Amino acid sequence: MCAWTATAEAHPNIAFIKYWGNRDHEARIPSNGSLSMNLAGLVTRTTVTFRPDLTADRLVLHGREVEGPALARVSKVLSLVRAWSGLTWHADVRSENNFPTGAGIASSASAFAALAVAAAAAAGLDLAPQDLSRLARWGSGSASRSVPGGFVEWLPGTGDEDSYAISIAPPEHWALMDCVALVSTDHKAVGSSQGHRLAEKSPFQAVRVADAPRRLDVCRDAILKRDFEALAEVVELDCHMMHAVMQTSSPRLLYWEPATVTVMQAVRRWRQEGLPVAYTIDAGPNVHVLCPQGAQEEVASRLRALPGVQDVLTAGPGGPARVVA
Ligand code: PMV
Repeated sequence: MCAWTATAEAHPNIAFIKYWGNRDHEARIPSNGSLSMNLAGLVTRTTVTFRPDLTADRLVLHGREVEGPALARVSKVLSLVRAWSGLTWHADVRSENNFPTGAGIASSASAFAALAVAAAAAAGLDLAPQDLSRLARWGSGSASRSVPGGFVEWLPGTGDEDSYAISIAPPEHWALMDCVALVSTDHKAVGSSQGHRLAEKSPFQAVRVADAPRRLDVCRDAILKRDFEALAEVVELDCHMMHAVMQTSSPRLLYWEPATVTVMQAVRRWRQEGLPVAYTIDAGPNVHVLCPQGAQEEVASRLRALPGVQDVLTAGPGGPARVVA
């Protein structure tokens, strides 16, 4: 049987300036620009096979067939690839992460980046990097940032054509480390797709969005100059601005657990004592603790000693999503 197939790998990313809220929920056109670092060592590997005998798209995650909303999101991306390539066949999608699902690492970013790159290659499309980033964005906004490599900025744009992410510095530019303090591996009650819809219900969202270009400038500058102190300040401010919006939406979203606050307090204390550390938190209770390379062993061992910290994963800057077979 004739079949068109390709396999791609992508890394998750941690946002230093957060994406929260959409101007267009379907196309995932964000309310503000965002900036992140890909996480090396953590990988989603996805194989897409377009086959003439399939009557619908199929999704198999870690060997188990998945249906419902997850399959619908995957089909959305596959349908765009079909429209862009002229291919009419459905696809079989098989995907695995080398990191535990539900470990507080946003797997949707690496999942949809790997899907977009694999599906485009399988369909024989030779897309520019920014078009692959646009394609990934339809599955998950933050996935647009897992397509380019290293330190990545998502230019919010005004619509589908100009909303994509670009690399502002390669992974070798700065050996920053992310020590992820796992405080809970429970599945979150409110996922980010639903959360983005609640953002505009907070009176603080307009203020957060209006100030985002300034924070992006400060963060981009800190990365380009490898200025950890400036980065620490703006990353923590931006994290608290997003959580302030979450906590004042209706219904209110409170992702923190007591151990989340324990880690935040400890990181602040350590920084005052001279250790270069900063924290940021996504839509969950786990805390991403950033530090320059060299400090990560000290940081990870201090984090492990805190009450409520179950484990610590460590990752440096990762490369772009790429076809591997
Ligand atoms: O891409 P989504 O819809 O999973 O949204 C990601 C939202 C945050 O992780 C909280 C922030 C971000 O910019 O990654």
